[in-house]
Amino acid sequence: MIVCENIKKDEYGRVVELAVEVFMEDKFFIKHMRDANERRKKLAEIYRDGLEICDKNFGGTLVAKVNDEVVGFLMYFDYVKFRKTNLHDFKDVFGVEIKHNHVLPVSFAKIHKTVVRSQCNPIYVLAIGVGKNYQHQGIGKALFADFLQKFEGRVIMSDISGPFFLRLCQKYGFNLEPISDVCYLAVSK
Ligand SMILES: CC(C)(COP(=O)(O)OP(=O)(O)OC[C@H]1O[C@@H](n2cnc3c(N)ncnc32)[C@H](O)[C@@H]1OP(=O)(O)O)[C@@H](O)C(=O)NCCC(=O)NCCS
Repeated sequence: MIVCENIKKDEYGRVVELAVEVFMEDKFFIKHMRDANERRKKLAEIYRDGLEICDKNFGGTLVAKVNDEVVGFLMYFDYVKFRKTNLHDFKDVFGVEIKHNHVLPVSFAKIHKTVVRSQCNPIYVLAIGVGKNYQHQGIGKALFADFLQKFEGRVIMSDISGPFFLRLCQKYGFNLEPISDVCYLAVSK
């Protein structure tokens, strides 16, 4: 049986381990960090910070458990509140230069433009992953369904470079727009 619930502090280490495992082969990270050792080290830092950032910025992390073991995770935050209250961390997450409180027009600027233009106040999925040994068994689907139910009525957004999360979003009828050669912006309807 798959159980989805909010993460506990003592599960942070396990989620970082899972995040490194699943994102080592991600096109976006391979493109930006060619060296595998460097990528492994950096991914551990990124997702350890990601857990704290989501916790602090009007979001959190859901975990999926099978037989009481954490096998999947979904990290999220409230995009608008996060940007308004903590521009420093926001800049870290989106990797863009922000000057005079404006996001400069690089690839992630498209995300920001979409939020501003549509005034949609989205919940943003920072990351979703299921451990390699547990993939393709419906766990990602269960985790995403649980998350969507939790935020029913809110717009959900994410930048996606993995084919199976893309497929999940397609199934739920998200709009998908390419924002780089390896990434799509997904916005729920
Ligand atoms: C995205 C991810 C979380 C999905 O988790 P999962 O538990 O494997 O997903 P599910 O078993 O619920 O399946 C979701 C869909 O993906 C398909 N899928 C998952 N793994 C697959 C595989 N190895 N081969 C073919 N299809 C696969 C499923 O068939 C399903 O589609 P369907 O309903 O049309 O059958 C998982 O693939 C993952 O961790 N990927 C690496 C990290 C990643 O890419 N995250 C998103 C970054 S943007």
